[in-house]
Amino acid sequence: MIDQTVSRLCYRNKMILAPMVRVGTLPMRLLALDYGADIVYCEELIDLKMIQCKRVVNEVLDTIDYVASDERVIFRTCEREKNHVVFQMGTADAQRALTVARLVENDVAGIDVNMGCPKEYSTKGGMGVALLSNPDKIEAILSTLVKGITKPVTCKIRILPSLEDTIQLVKRIERTGVAAVAVHGRRKEERPQHPVHCDIIKAISEAVSIPVIANGGSQEIIKEYAGIEEFRQLTNASSVMVARAAMWNPSIFRREGLLPAEKVLKEYLSYAIKYDSHYSNTKYCLCQMLREKLESAQGKKLHAAQSNEEIWREYPPQITPKMILLEWCRKQKLPQPVYVTVQRPSDRLFNSVVTVADKNYSSSCWDKTKKVVEQSTAIVCLRSLGLSDGRLCEGENPFTHKRKRDEEHASNTESTGSTSLDTNKKKQSITDENMTTDFRL
Ligand code: FNR
Repeated sequence: MIDQTVSRLCYRNKMILAPMVRVGTLPMRLLALDYGADIVYCEELIDLKMIQCKRVVNEVLDTIDYVASDERVIFRTCEREKNHVVFQMGTADAQRALTVARLVENDVAGIDVNMGCPKEYSTKGGMGVALLSNPDKIEAILSTLVKGITKPVTCKIRILPSLEDTIQLVKRIERTGVAAVAVHGRRKEERPQHPVHCDIIKAISEAVSIPVIANGGSQEIIKEYAGIEEFRQLTNASSVMVARAAMWNPSIFRREGLLPAEKVLKEYLSYAIKYDSHYSNTKYCLCQMLREKLESAQGKKLHAAQSNEEIWREYPPQITPKMILLEWCRKQKLPQPVYVTVQRPSDRLFNSVVTVADKNYSSSCWDKTKKVVEQSTAIVCLRSLGLSDGRLCEGENPFTHKRKRDEEHASNTESTGSTSLDTNKKKQSITDENMTTDFRL
C-alpha cells in the first residue's frame, strides 16, 4: 500500500500501527513497517517532557535521539521511518504543542494530538479525553499546529455519549485544517473488552470529508490480515489503525498471513538490540507477543527477567555477521560497509563484494539469494580483519550496553543510549536458516 512517490503523508487507504505506550517505540515501528504497515505512530509523548529535549545525532546507532536534560532518550527515530512515522503528543496547551511540533517536525512525517487517553495522569493535566469536553481548546491546539508547521496534523479521539455531539465535534476538528482524524470507537468509560461501535465510526466517516481512521477493532474483528479490511468496510473509514492485534503479533500487517510468534519475537529482538532498547520495554513487548505461552517455564523466566542478559538467555538473539561488521565499523568510526552484489546471467546466482575502510573483501560463495552471499562476504571480511565472525558461545552476550539512565525511567522513553559490540571474545550459536548456510563455508 505504500506510495513511495508521495512525500507528504496521505491518510487514505492505509494500514496504521496505533500509538501505544512502551510498544510504539522504534523496534516495533520498524517491524510493523517491515510487515506492511504504511504509517506508524510513536507512543504518546508529553509536551512538557519533550520541551526539555535536545536533538542529538547518534552516530553509533545511526538514529536521531531526543534526549532530556537527565540524558534519557525520550524519542528515538531513524531515516528508515522518516516518511512514515507520526509523532503523537499529549498536550493541553497550544503554544507548548507548537514548540514541540517545531522541534521534531523535520524528523517525522506527521504530528498527532492524543485526545483519547482516559487515564488519570493524562486527564488531570487537561490532556487526553479531558480535551473532548473542551472543544475551544481542541480548536486552539489544532489550528495553531496546522498554521505553525508544514507537516500534516491529525488527532485521535474517542466517541462522545451522543452521535450528534460526536459528529459536531469532528466537523469542528475538520474545520481546523487537520489532515485526518483517528476515531477510537469507544466512549471514555468503555474498556477494550467492550464492543467497538462500528456504526458510530461509519456515521462520522459519512459526515465529514477528511479521512477518518478507524480504531478499536482488535480482538473482535481484527484477528488476522483480512480483518483489517473487514473493519474498514464496517466503518466506511479511509484507513485502519491497529493497536492490540499488532502488539500481540505485528505480522498482522502481512498480506500473506500471520507469522509464528517465535519468528516475530526474534525479529523484534534483533531491532531491540540494534537500537539499544531498554530491557523493560523489550520484556513488555515480548510478554505481549507470548501472552498465551507466558505460563510455560520459558515464559515465566522471561517474566522474571531483570536485564537484557536474562532475556537473551531465554531467547538467544539472532546476530548476523553483517550486524557484527556494521557495529565494528561504527565503533571504529568508519563509514558503514558497502555491499555490491551482482547476479551472474548464466545461472542467476549472486556474489557480493563488501568495502570497508577503502578495502574490498569478497567470498567465493555464489548463491541464489543475495542475503546469503552478503553474509558470506561479511564473514570473509570479519575473518580478514581478525575479528570473530559471530559464532558465539551459548549464554554469552554479544553486546555491551552503556546505560544512560536507570530502570525506573524506562517507561515512556525510547531507549538507553549507545550500543557497542565486543566482537573478539564472543561466541554464540546462530540458528537462522541463512546462517546455517553461511557457516558451512
Ligand atoms: C494504548 N492506546 C494508546 N492510544 C494513544 O492514542 N496513545 C498511546 O500512547 C496509547 N498507549 C496504549 C498502550 C497500550 C499498551 C494499549 C493496549 C493501548 C490505545 C490504542 O492506541 C487504541 O486506541 C486501543 O487499543 C484500541 O485499538 P485496538 O487495540 O482495538 O486496535
